[in-house]
Amino acid sequence: MNWTVPGSPSVEGRSILVTGAGTGIGRATAEHLVAQGARVFGIGLDGQEGSELGRKHAEAGTALIFRETDVTDDAEVRAAVAAALSAYGRLDGVVNAAGIYMTGKRLEDVSDAEWDRTIAVNLTAIFRVCRATLPHLRAAGGGSIVNIASVHALATVPGVPAYAASKAAVLGLSRQMALDYAVDHIRVNALIVGSVATRMTLDGLDEAGGAEAAGLSFATDRIARIADPREIATGIAFLLSDAASFVTGSGFVIDGGMTARLL
Ligand SMILES: NC(=O)c1ccc[n+]([C@@H]2O[C@H](COP(=O)([O-])OP(=O)(O)OC[C@H]3O[C@@H](n4cnc5c(N)ncnc54)[C@H](O)[C@@H]3O)[C@@H](O)[C@H]2O)c1
Repeated sequence: MNWTVPGSPSVEGRSILVTGAGTGIGRATAEHLVAQGARVFGIGLDGQEGSELGRKHAEAGTALIFRETDVTDDAEVRAAVAAALSAYGRLDGVVNAAGIYMTGKRLEDVSDAEWDRTIAVNLTAIFRVCRATLPHLRAAGGGSIVNIASVHALATVPGVPAYAASKAAVLGLSRQMALDYAVDHIRVNALIVGSVATRMTLDGLDEAGGAEAAGLSFATDRIARIADPREIATGIAFLLSDAASFVTGSGFVIDGGMTARLL
């Protein structure tokens, strides 16, 4: 039997589209990938943060372009993918990091608009971004897609019905795509992410009365602590690299032990 030896953990030379790249995990991922020699096309809603990010890298001569894009708008997604292709000539990976969170409402109190918006950003946009990028990954001979789900895909907290449903669906969609696209050498994984120090978490913790009240800690020696977004970025880089050649269809957990805890 001739086994294929897993490849390099490097993403050097890869062209990667990152959504939600202006802030948080998407931004940390975009910057980490560029530091590792990848070429990144970042898209997202945060025009000011994104433009500042793009300007910084243009001045440094590093390959990170940001384009303001609403991932719920199919025409904008397709235009962004075309721009990424025109900038880098190929696409080897996609990171779907754009997302929104909504707290504090039981199902009866969720409006149609709130439900639709959460599903549109957290789930339908991943479907659209994947639909627009898959032909280019196939044309490149294969690739890797990382869809950011959440620990909420496995277990959840009271009052987040739309978010929990959307993230569980991201896990299901990723597994399904992994099966359909294995034949094209495209790996698809969902990331089960715990608490990360980004705007999304910090706003939520304020509402919950702080980190300790939510059972979390910023102390770096704790289980179920709050992560630095760069600790998620390194896991994403692994999944994008050939070192993850046998990793597909997974709910890849990076949660500091949060879901390991029984009580
Ligand atoms: N922070 C956490 O603890 C945590 C935990 C688990 C999963 N996640 C997931 O990680 C991902 C990134 O979140 P984050 O923590 O970095 O928070 P964040 O708020 O900093 O980032 C979310 C990003 O999504 C972008 N976005 C939102 N709606 C968009 C739209 N319609 N079009 C384009 N971009 C849009 C925003 O512009 C922002 O850049 C999300 O999918 C989130 O659900 C976060």
